[in-house]
Amino acid sequence: MTTRVCFVCLGNICRSPTAEGVFKHLVREANRTDDFAIESAGTAAYHEGEAPDRRSTAAARERGFELIGQARGFIASDFDRFDHVVAMDRSNLSDLTALARTAADRDKLSLLRAFDPQSTTPADADVPDPYYGGGRGFENVLDICVRSCSAMLERW
Ligand code: 4NP
Repeated sequence: MTTRVCFVCLGNICRSPTAEGVFKHLVREANRTDDFAIESAGTAAYHEGEAPDRRSTAAARERGFELIGQARGFIASDFDRFDHVVAMDRSNLSDLTALARTAADRDKLSLLRAFDPQSTTPADADVPDPYYGGGRGFENVLDICVRSCSAMLERW
């Protein structure tokens, strides 16, 4: 059976495409491509149609991850298309919770860093938004995605 996963951030150009690219890479390495369908989306649609941010793409490529896709907004009916909807931060989770129509929709929601073995306090609950920050922010997003997605793959 295919496990359908959607990673969700705000703009769908930095964090969620990174999680998507990292998780796809790990799934391929584990020879489990048939087990998963993997996408990403944003709670805001203002970058609709755009490719992932160049800074995210460059940082990912340095580590051998390929980021692809066009940004799109997450809509309520997307809950029907996925088994797991994984939010990058608590603000995304709150927006997704507001979009959920049923308890079954809400049950599909989780935070990426709930899988991060290095996230132990509420201060570590979020994947920090790198969009307006410096270069190290993109490295940090990659570190978090690799740790969290590795743990996710072991669980699913
Ligand atoms: P993302 O980053 O949610 O990780 O894709 C952002 C991208 C764009 C904006 C904010 C965050 N923005 O305000 O345009």
